[in-house]
Amino acid sequence: MHNQVIYQLYPKSFYDSNGDGIGDLRGVIEKIDYLVSLNVDMIWFNPFFVSPQNDNGYDVADYRAIDPRFGTMADFDELIAKLSEHHIGVMLDMVLNHTSTAHQWFQKALAGDAKYQAYYYLRDPKPDGSLPTNWQSKFGGPAWSAFGNTGKYYLHLYDRTQADLDWHNPEVRAEAADIVNFWRAKGVRGFRFDVLNVIGKSDSLVDAEPGTESKFLYTDTPIVQTYIKELAAHSFGQDPDSVTVGEMSSTGLQQAVAYTKPENHELSMVFQFHHLKVDYVDGQKWTAMRYDFNALRKLLHTWGTGMAQGGGWQALFWNNHDQPRAIDRFADPKQRYASATLLAASIHLSRGTPYIYMGEEIGMSDPDYTGMNDYVDIEAHNAYNALLAQGLSAHDAFAIVHAKARDNSRTPMQWDDGATAGFTTGTPWLKSTNQRVVNVEAAVSQRIFAFYQKLIALRKQFNVISEGDYQPFGENIDWLYGYQRDFGGQHLLVLNNFADHDIEIPIPSAFQKAQILITNEPSLNPAATLTLPAYGTVALLQQ
Ligand code: NOJ
Repeated sequence: MHNQVIYQLYPKSFYDSNGDGIGDLRGVIEKIDYLVSLNVDMIWFNPFFVSPQNDNGYDVADYRAIDPRFGTMADFDELIAKLSEHHIGVMLDMVLNHTSTAHQWFQKALAGDAKYQAYYYLRDPKPDGSLPTNWQSKFGGPAWSAFGNTGKYYLHLYDRTQADLDWHNPEVRAEAADIVNFWRAKGVRGFRFDVLNVIGKSDSLVDAEPGTESKFLYTDTPIVQTYIKELAAHSFGQDPDSVTVGEMSSTGLQQAVAYTKPENHELSMVFQFHHLKVDYVDGQKWTAMRYDFNALRKLLHTWGTGMAQGGGWQALFWNNHDQPRAIDRFADPKQRYASATLLAASIHLSRGTPYIYMGEEIGMSDPDYTGMNDYVDIEAHNAYNALLAQGLSAHDAFAIVHAKARDNSRTPMQWDDGATAGFTTGTPWLKSTNQRVVNVEAAVSQRIFAFYQKLIALRKQFNVISEGDYQPFGENIDWLYGYQRDFGGQHLLVLNNFADHDIEIPIPSAFQKAQILITNEPSLNPAATLTLPAYGTVALLQQ
């Protein structure tokens, strides 16, 4: 498993086969050759289940059916069969912390069915009539909404149309396993579990202390591990070739090790997000700040070392559908080839499973939107209004949304330089702005793509990449993110310059005659010191 690379595909934005402006499963089928040429092992599909799409599919109304806007079950069956001809597995997104309020369970609960009322967190208001707790939704506003006209409230850590399931209820846990088993029976072997470490909310929900965040009351509680073990035993854990990843919100290193140590029989790996919060002022996303490289490097080293020492395993990623593009945050889209390849090499050669988020492999960057009307995401609009309410000017509030919005990464895949980037013959659901500069056919994108192909091939070829340990290197050199990896007589030194200028790196004698395994700077000449240009990356192999 450790030599695999996973591609994350956002179906709504990959390729539209029928001109309605929304990507679909037949669109993916049409583009299989592209995915095959990258040589990825598995594709994680963001949710395409039946959903009102209030949170782009993370509000699931039917876990066992394809939303008609994305296609049919026959399309899915054809897709999985065609991918498997090329030895590409499918990873599905299991959103089991909450359902859409349009799900029949919630609807039956609303209609008074006690069995389904016990699936959710329904609570009375406090004696003074205020909400059951002071918890805030992660999308802004209170985490409680009125449950019909019953006088009770239901918990939603996310949008009000995403009602949290009560995992204490064994019937809920059995439903979760059944859903996973439904897809296993279709040959699915990969599962990504949405916000899995918040399923262990306590039975008695209490207020967060003033000045503290409610998330500390319900994140990573010990029972989460019990529930994951049970789910594994009743479903994916029965497949020796299963690949699972838990999306872990604000998780800790020790918990991440525990979730993924093979002997615990829980998950193959976790997503953690600490390294993607280094441009948050005081941990708050909707703020503006140039990222802090030293904080980033420290986090990458802490997690790289800690996971290796603890025997855990992490997903390695810079981008996903919730993050602005890393090339804009941590490098420079004006130096697209160097920046994109630096970011790629810095994680693909590290210890863990690399994920490529759709478009990253051609160097896609954030769109240049000019007004709030360009944004679709509910979170961006809520945040903009909240920033205005805090007293920010429209200009400053917009600048923050521009830098932080999730729509930055959700723009359609740029296949060519046409008006709709070759994504649709209709009107795209979300606009592209920079397809003339970056698209699958552009020379710079093709060079970036070739670099990714090489990184993927190297992981399969060299055990030191897939299995090696992890040791920080050159922490006293400004702007260098470096690490060494050793395995069975192979030694790899990976040097990444995050600066917009040259840096000088003293090279340990053991690597002065090493082979250059990969670099984005063909003229490098390692000796006692090496000069690495702006956004340069190089991996030296000694064996
Ligand atoms: C994490 C998903 O990645 C995000 O897109 C979604 O909004 C939340 N979980 C809630 O499901």
